[in-house]
Parts: sequence; C-alpha cells; structure tokens
Amino acid sequence: MDIEYKKNIPLQKKDVISLFSSVEWRSQEYPGDLMSGLKNSDCVYTAWEDSLLVGLINALSDRHMVVYFHFVLVRPDYQHKGIGQKLVTLMLKEYKKVHTKILMAYNRKVRFYKKAGFKKVGYAKPMILTDMADAGE
Ligand SMILES: CC(C)(COP(=O)(O)OP(=O)(O)OC[C@H]1O[C@@H](n2cnc3c(N)ncnc32)[C@H](O)[C@@H]1OP(=O)(O)O)[C@@H](O)C(=O)NCCC(=O)NCCS
Repeated sequence: MDIEYKKNIPLQKKDVISLFSSVEWRSQEYPGDLMSGLKNSDCVYTAWEDSLLVGLINALSDRHMVVYFHFVLVRPDYQHKGIGQKLVTLMLKEYKKVHTKILMAYNRKVRFYKKAGFKKVGYAKPMILTDMADAGE
C-alpha cells in the first residue's frame, strides 16, 4: 500500500465528508463549517492512497507557545497500518519548537497518543463547551 502524505493542499468537500463519514464523526453534519475550519487551520496534513483521502490531522496554533491538534482520523479500512502515527509524527515535527502540544484523546485512544509522547497530567482535566451532542463520537 503506497500512502502519500500532503501538507496544506486544497481539499474537496466530497473527499472530506467521505472520510469523516467513514468514522461516523458528527462534524460531517456541518460541511460548511468543517470545510471553513480546515481552511482556517494553521496546518493540515492528509494521507492519500492515489485519489482516496484516507487520513487527516489538523492543527490550531500560535506557532510559538501552543498547538492544539483537533481532528485525527483514518478510514477504518486503513487503520492499524501506521498511518495515524505517521500523521501525528509529521505534526510533531512541524511544531517541534512550539512549547506545548495539546489534544483531547478518547479514553480508548490514550495508548495510541502515549506512543507519540503525549501524557496525561494530574494537574489538569480536559473540559469542553460544545453545541455538538456527543462531539466527536
Ligand atoms: C486513532 C486513529 C487515528 C489511529 O489511526 P491508525 O492509522 O489506526 O493508527 P496506527 O496504525 O498508527 O496505530 C493504531 C494501532 O495499530 C498498530 N499498528 C500500527 N502499524 C501496524 C501494523 N503494520 N500492523 C499491525 N498493527 C499496527 C499500532 O501499534 C496501534 O496500536 P494501539 O492502538 O494499540 O496503539 C484511528 O483509530 C481513527 O481514525 N479512529 C477513529 C477516529 C478517532 O477515534 N480519532 C482519535 C480521536 S482521539
């Protein structure tokens, strides 16, 4: 399987919606906002097999103090092949000099992010205010 990784390329709505639908994420229900959000992201890496969008990660950042990784997803058929870890690694390289990297890990994905160096901290808890029911799930 030949996977190509691309940085900040223009994305088609149909490709993005197809990817987000594949993992049943509710963000797909807001296609306009989702596309604008990706366009306004500081950085987006995508993974492709030929013309099929198989994975994506985006970053929101001030490029100095903090970067937040929001979407991290890989098509189910393409999971467990190292694509997710590669996307995270590309972003960690991109933001190497930024002091703090943050993300919200689903409980079942904690081990995946630990492999990339992220850790849970005792002094803080993730908190969220959203109008999206069951955000992300
Ligand atoms: C989280 C997610 C992005 C990971 O993507 P992925 O491409 O499967 O990630 P990787 O293949 O790098 O790693 C996943 C697992 O496969 C294993 N793996 C990697 N390459 C492998 C290979 N060649 N053969 C077998 N297993 C492999 C990894 O060790 C890892 O194991 P772990 O789950 O025990 O840590 C993916 O599961 C996903 O999109 N899930 C739905 C959306 C989601 O939950 N996103 C995260 C929000 S916090």
